[in-house]
Amino acid sequence: MDRVIIFDTTLRDGEQSPGATLNVEEKVDIAHQLVRLGVDVIEAGFPIASPGDFEAVQRIAREVRGATICGLARAVPIDVDRAAEAVKDAEDPRIHVFISSSDIHLAHQIRKNRSEVLEITDAMVRRAKSYVSNVEFSPMDATRSEPEYLLEILRVAVAAGATTLNIPDTVGFAVPEEFGNLIAYLIEHVPGADKVIFSTHCHDDLGMAVANSLTGVKRGARQIECTINGIGERAGNCSLEEVVMALRTRQDYYGVDTRIDTTQLYKTSRMVSNYTGILVQPNKAVVGANAFAHESGIHQDGILKERSTFEIMNPKDVGQSETLLVLGKHSGRHAFKTRMEELGYKLSDEDLNRSFARFKELADKKKAVSDQDLAMIVADEIRTPTEIYRLDHVQVSCGDHSIPTATVRLIGPDGAVLCDSATGTGPVDAVYKAVNRLINRENRLIEYSVQSVTAGLDAIGEVTIRIESEGRVFGGRGADTDVIVASTRAYVNALNKLLAAAREPATVIG
Ligand code: KIV
Ligand code: ZN
Repeated sequence: MDRVIIFDTTLRDGEQSPGATLNVEEKVDIAHQLVRLGVDVIEAGFPIASPGDFEAVQRIAREVRGATICGLARAVPIDVDRAAEAVKDAEDPRIHVFISSSDIHLAHQIRKNRSEVLEITDAMVRRAKSYVSNVEFSPMDATRSEPEYLLEILRVAVAAGATTLNIPDTVGFAVPEEFGNLIAYLIEHVPGADKVIFSTHCHDDLGMAVANSLTGVKRGARQIECTINGIGERAGNCSLEEVVMALRTRQDYYGVDTRIDTTQLYKTSRMVSNYTGILVQPNKAVVGANAFAHESGIHQDGILKERSTFEIMNPKDVGQSETLLVLGKHSGRHAFKTRMEELGYKLSDEDLNRSFARFKELADKKKAVSDQDLAMIVADEIRTPTEIYRLDHVQVSCGDHSIPTATVRLIGPDGAVLCDSATGTGPVDAVYKAVNRLINRENRLIEYSVQSVTAGLDAIGEVTIRIESEGRVFGGRGADTDVIVASTRAYVNALNKLLAAAREPATVIG
């Protein structure tokens, strides 16, 4: 079976989603999960962008085994050198060099003429090749470039040593048939095309990223660039879970396979959503909460008689089936640790202690603790380097004829205990005002949402928020059976990220 390479760019293009900033630990965790998922290439970041980006790519290159680790570079010497330095300890390092190829970009963005761009391409692909054998080249805005010029720039890249030619639909402008034709044309005409892999990189501005990528594969591309949950610049990128399940479910049509362990899809989706604070819409294909929910009587009747009447995928195949933890409130630490390991969490002793204590609290309140509940606990309890303040206690009093009042106690840096109270228009408002009295950092709440993790009145509520401060957006999440506690956790989590970001200067790439 012909295999398609899955190139995951959640940590690079995905992280370019507004408010999706991830810290180094979170990126390393996600990279390990991507290996469990079975992706072939991890684009771990853009090393020149900031010291934090460099550190994340370097740590992933050093620690993560089982996938090619790629660093992005503009076609300029310092970028290529920095990317080479960051990926050099990987099992299989790759440098991904890009430069614009459309006339619009040449005239207004990089202000170079076509022959200058060809010379730069030649020099920078050769420079990357002097560091690593695995070099990818992307002509940015390829789908709005003149096809003959695209051919020329790709010819130069292959001659200079590129082994993967990526065709980005940077602005999400292409339509499937046209994009497929472009891929077929390039494969037919680029000299040496048979020795390189052609790749798709589609953005979703018109909602066609997955369709475009699939059509690219149908016409000969053998690498797809995609992100978990389809996150990314503007409307995002091709969604990994959708494109992979389309290839698998319609293998009869596409005739290709991937190395993805699809049972890891749901867990990976949750992890990325938790860490980035970007929610997955309920009706999202494959990983959305309603992706396998059947509401109408006719559908339910059909499903009960024979699943395949209304279901083309089995929820178990994408990891969307609820496994109830067989442990109850009397279960011990060892059994808890074993279940966590089965689920793929390797926790430090401190994180394990904290997670176990939360599990005990939850088992007291809930009859059955599900794997999804456990994922929430871990996401809350893993201590990250951005954790400066920690919620110790929150108490509210509210009702239809009372003034909502909240008291919050936080553990601050060096174990200092901070406590204050405030009133507000509602309990969440009162809590946020009390927290503001303790952590005095101006910000604006721009998004607040609550979702139930599992069904039932005793379900854990997951609160996801975004706050904005000085033009930057920070996501926060928190989970608890009490939504006020979850809301407080989410706010403290977002404020911690804001405070940590203020410590690290961001380098802006033009
Ligand atoms: O969308 C794009 O063109 C990119 C390139 C850097 C490959 O992300
Ligand atoms: Zn992109």
